[in-house]
Amino acid sequence: MPVITLAIESSCDETSASILQNENVKSTIISSQYFHKEYGGIVPELASRAHIENISIIANNAIQKSGINIKDINLVAAAKGPGLIGSLLVGYNFAKGFAINNNLPFIGIDHIESHLFSCFIGKKEVHFPFIALVVSGGHTIIFLVKSYSEYKILGNTNDDAAGEAFDKAAKMLGLQYPGGPIIDELAQTGNKNFHQFPKSNIKGRPYDFSFSGIKTSMRYFLKENYPDIKNNLPLNDIAASFQEAVTGVLAQKTLQAAIDNNIKRIAVSGGVSANTGLRNKFNELQKKGYEIYFPEKIYSTDNAAMIGYNAFIKYRTNNFKINEDTIQDSAYARFRYI
Ligand code: KG4
Ligand code: ZN
Repeated sequence: MPVITLAIESSCDETSASILQNENVKSTIISSQYFHKEYGGIVPELASRAHIENISIIANNAIQKSGINIKDINLVAAAKGPGLIGSLLVGYNFAKGFAINNNLPFIGIDHIESHLFSCFIGKKEVHFPFIALVVSGGHTIIFLVKSYSEYKILGNTNDDAAGEAFDKAAKMLGLQYPGGPIIDELAQTGNKNFHQFPKSNIKGRPYDFSFSGIKTSMRYFLKENYPDIKNNLPLNDIAASFQEAVTGVLAQKTLQAAIDNNIKRIAVSGGVSANTGLRNKFNELQKKGYEIYFPEKIYSTDNAAMIGYNAFIKYRTNNFKINEDTIQDSAYARFRYI
């Protein structure tokens, strides 16, 4: 009998539901809360309230679109964290309530671990080991991954996450939230050599990141060169130069981790993995014999399919049983070292 999973993701400003049959995605619905644009960033209280309004509609849509009968669902999963707690609670408790009401097994799933494995949704085989870069609005982490359950963190961000740096830079340029995709779009026709933004390195910690310097550098660059920010801003060139600096550091440190560990497989996931400049940089490495994996763009930013995929993998690894270990695994996996 196939495992039919209902998966829910509500960790930030996306309400998402997905139905999977074993590891295969049958449907995914993602509703983004565009109203946060007005505020220049996510307002947690409003995000939670919007999740409450949307969650059952989104879940129903996913079930309908998948063509499965609601009675055939036999596993329920939801993002457990990290994320905005008010937002997480809505999706998590909705899913848990559905599981209890229908007497179904339930797994709470780690959001970052799900990004990590999202590259393999829809792929026939996954080859280990690989180096993974998870790069989102809240995290910038390099992992060494030996199996679905054995991995360790090689590097992390000291301050801002890369997505956060994109969003903050965009705000300084007078662009809307989230700024990452807008900078990406503008950069396509910009000159990346227009200005050299700093590519920060932390002494003695080759895989760690810091993005606060580039943010400050953007502020001073604009203040000095374009005091009247509303006029004549060469947006495309600034976006391209900024993107070049951020993606350059991401690619260079991830490659260094791959070289040092003698691994020629790299998986890049999380919201910023949708970035065209970043994808180009990693794809270039294919010429040097590297296997490069990205999620499909729809699975780069937050989505419930990655939660369902990760849940199914855990369920299968645990011989289709739920016990304390499965739950602990998913909740604490981020902190476990090989
Ligand atoms: O993974 P995600 O949806 O949510 C978190 O877990 O944080 O990532 C959202 C982040 C935002 O900072 C957004 O600006 C960034 O991903 N992002 C991008 C692109 N698409 C989304 N950044 C750069 N280029 C993009 N194309
Ligand atoms: Zn995420």
